Amino acid sequence: MSEIHSKDSYTLRSMIADLHRFIVAHRGSSGTAPENTMSSLQDAIEVGAHMVEVDVQLTKDDQIVLMHDPGLARTTNGKGIVRSMSYTDLKTLDAGSWFNSKYIGEHIPLLSEALQFLNDHQTCVNIEIKPPQKDDDHITRLLAIVETVISHNMQNVTLFSSFHHESLHYIKKHYSNLYTAGIHLPGDKRLPSEIASEIGCNGFVCSLREITHAKAQDASKHDILMGVYTINDEHDFHKIMKYNVPALVTNFPKKIQEYLQQPT
Ligand code: G3P
Ligand code: MG
Repeated sequence: MSEIHSKDSYTLRSMIADLHRFIVAHRGSSGTAPENTMSSLQDAIEVGAHMVEVDVQLTKDDQIVLMHDPGLARTTNGKGIVRSMSYTDLKTLDAGSWFNSKYIGEHIPLLSEALQFLNDHQTCVNIEIKPPQKDDDHITRLLAIVETVISHNMQNVTLFSSFHHESLHYIKKHYSNLYTAGIHLPGDKRLPSEIASEIGCNGFVCSLREITHAKAQDASKHDILMGVYTINDEHDFHKIMKYNVPALVTNFPKKIQEYLQQPT
């Protein structure tokens, strides 16, 4: 199968059918730009990533923003937690200079802004739904995420993933046409098909450390989309090439795309 995907038929289903392997830019191209920002999305698009993974959090005023951690300290110049701040306050924070001073002033994007950008560039998206914090109303957050995707009419190009399988089960129950992928939980001995039969997910994701032939073969046999994170260097790339895994999740989409395109 071709490694180059035509964006003429821009859906998750057609991408999976067209490509034996494809590149998922993890938190955008987070090795070259600050994670989960418009710059990391822009870099991912420029180097031809087939899909972009983003993490999302809910603000105090129920807006969905791109952010990996519940707290602001690691990736912004703010303090405290996302859930305790309104988007009006969050958008004044600097989410770029922690990574490199050339990204000073980079803002925290709304999910809506990111989706619009990815749709304009006909690029599929993987939205990772983080496990709820204590006392979190995770259904409110889940509905806000799902409804944002629906409002952009991007149901056919979006994959929802999570370590919190209950959230994915909820999505399938209430929105059966949406695509979901369970992320492997530490210590979980179940095969992808066993998880899929419990929560109805379409895909399964695990780390490079957790990949086994049993998992990859089971996913392939049961037509479950499989992804592995994070494939960041040549050593990782050679390891994953030994497995039948289509989705290569990477912080360095340009580098991994180049490895993929090298003749074997
Ligand atoms: O898609 C898998 C990966 O994103 C899960 O881990 O912590 O990078 O969000 P994390
Ligand atoms: Mg993630």
